[in-house]
Amino acid sequence: MCGIFAYLNYNVNKERRYIIEVLFNGLRRLEYRGYDSAGISIDSSSSSSSSESPLVFRQEGNIDSLVRSVYEEVAETELNLEESFSVHAGIAHTRWATHGEPAPRNGHPQSSGVGNDFLVVHNGVVTNFEVLKETLVRQGFTFESETDTEVIPKLAKYVFDKTNEGGGDQTVTFSQIVIEVMRHLEGAYALVFKSRHYPNELIACKRGSPLLLGVKELTGNMSNGSLFHQTEFPTKNGQPKEFFFSSDAHALVEHTKKVLVIEDGEVVHLKEGAVSILKFDYDKAKNAVGLTRPASVQRALSILEMEVEQINKGTYEHYMQKEIHEQPESLKTTMRGRLIRGGFHKAKSVLLGGLKDHLKTIRRSRRIVFIGCGTSYNAALAARPILEELSGVPVTLEIASDLLDRQGPIYREDTAVFVSQSGETADTLHALQYALENGALCVGITNTVGSAIARNTHCGIHINAGCEIGVASTKAYTSQIVVMAMMALAIGDDTISSLSRREAIIDGLFDLPNKVKEVLKLDQEMKDLAKQLMAEQSLLVFGRGYNYATALEGALKVKEVALMHSEGILAGEMKHGPLALVDENLSILVIATHDACFSKQQSVIQQLHARKGRLIVMCSKGEASLVCPSVSVRVIEVPQVEDCLQPVINIIPLQLLSYHLTVLRGYNVDQPRNLAKSVTTQ
Ligand code: F6R
Repeated sequence: MCGIFAYLNYNVNKERRYIIEVLFNGLRRLEYRGYDSAGISIDSSSSSSSSESPLVFRQEGNIDSLVRSVYEEVAETELNLEESFSVHAGIAHTRWATHGEPAPRNGHPQSSGVGNDFLVVHNGVVTNFEVLKETLVRQGFTFESETDTEVIPKLAKYVFDKTNEGGGDQTVTFSQIVIEVMRHLEGAYALVFKSRHYPNELIACKRGSPLLLGVKELTGNMSNGSLFHQTEFPTKNGQPKEFFFSSDAHALVEHTKKVLVIEDGEVVHLKEGAVSILKFDYDKAKNAVGLTRPASVQRALSILEMEVEQINKGTYEHYMQKEIHEQPESLKTTMRGRLIRGGFHKAKSVLLGGLKDHLKTIRRSRRIVFIGCGTSYNAALAARPILEELSGVPVTLEIASDLLDRQGPIYREDTAVFVSQSGETADTLHALQYALENGALCVGITNTVGSAIARNTHCGIHINAGCEIGVASTKAYTSQIVVMAMMALAIGDDTISSLSRREAIIDGLFDLPNKVKEVLKLDQEMKDLAKQLMAEQSLLVFGRGYNYATALEGALKVKEVALMHSEGILAGEMKHGPLALVDENLSILVIATHDACFSKQQSVIQQLHARKGRLIVMCSKGEASLVCPSVSVRVIEVPQVEDCLQPVINIIPLQLLSYHLTVLRGYNVDQPRNLAKSVTTQ
């Protein structure tokens, strides 16, 4: 939620137009994180000195609105786009509104006031902003926005003015000011600061929200993974280079693969082509008197395993469409190197490197608790039956926010598994903190290498689905289910009695990408169904057993992108309330593929038909006449696979349906109203 991007070119001439475009492009890559408003700050002249105020542009709406407004304003002010800067520090932001409606005044960069002495872009929520605001108002500051962020640049100015009181020469460093500001902030944040008083410098810091530094050296060689700190980095002074700060790797990969995942409490200072990293200890600093001087730390650069093609739409019109159609490949990548074919005297098996040292502990746990939000929670729900069946350990599920609201029990003897595509969801992260405090073994299942969940769990599994950019999660969902099915196989005992079941699942996993290819052929059929449903008010989705999750997830997709009311219903609960809704005006999709619940679903279909519901039935290929004999309904036939893998197949027609419904209803597929991809605030 909210995307931060910053760009600093050092000793390499770049024209203003280029700098602005790098910032815009960074924002375009991050737009899925929020698209309520956007803004940038650049310098007014290449001879920037502390006497000149940086320029700030902010606009309501998406990045294209910002781009248009910036170029219009530039034309009016006759700002020279060809003006060249050998050093320049620019910051940019795309916003998902939390405090204050989407409007230019609430956009970022937020400013310290007239003169833009300090400017800040922020991702997160400052929870004590009201107290800080009151204090700053008493000190004579006036506020223009309703954001929590505005206290940050104002606090920076207050600290700067105080420490330079009496007109003494400016000895306090930019990082000292930022650290002093951090000392007063509570909540979650990733911040990048720019200041008129420290031209050509940028400072980034974080606590909770994600932030990366990208480094591109234009000449010379910097070995991969090299250690650097204040004095060692860069390799040569004066060497031209470009630096980037970004909320995630998507916006960096087209510039550089050399990144530093900034840790909580770190303050990264870019100055004169050098990077210094200071470690800020929040608890110590809170009680310190006067300006604190945290120690500098050494960190290694990591190399991104991501290609630019992965973050482009290719021949598809939307990311969601691309990601749905990518699933045969994403599933292959999820399983690559993890399934063992077996052979003579050797059973087929599963190898999950990230779990292997912890399997004994997991098997001995009192219970395995899966924790996640939204689609990630649904994926755990889909995998629960097979986890229970193979592991023999009780499996429970928790929606992260609900676990926290209740402060539900988590014990030392528990294994707590955190499922999150982004690895940054605030509710899930707080639940992880809670489980760590309670002593549970914490396992992460994420799609984002280096994410907070990946870093803070004891062990885990990357789902390797590739970048998911569409706000509605699709390929991550199917990869999560597959990872959890493999986890069930890894935890489960390799006994004779379970051998044939285990082998059938492993064979099913090997063949799954082919079956997914087959089900994707329903694209046109789902488009036709979308035409039939596009004017409906509501769509109920009934499922049970392995496919209760499919009902919830299918309904979630329809409501979040097509903006149509949709509800996933446990078919076993039909007679306990939902049946009252059913009449000839209500469209109902029933999932009735062949598994142990099949005959119960047949009976559900009969009862819904008796109440004149407008039925659409998803069934296994060739079973149309079996699933609803004597009932004439629209049928979606899907390939049948092993029951525990069927949710992977069954969700795909519903993903396609919600995609086509959205296009037909004229809504934005990749940027659904009011949503953002990673929800990094609670
Ligand atoms: C729905 C969707 C959300 C996320 C949820 C958790 O399509 O994407 O429901 O699943 O916000 O996000 P992660 O998995 O990143 O923790």
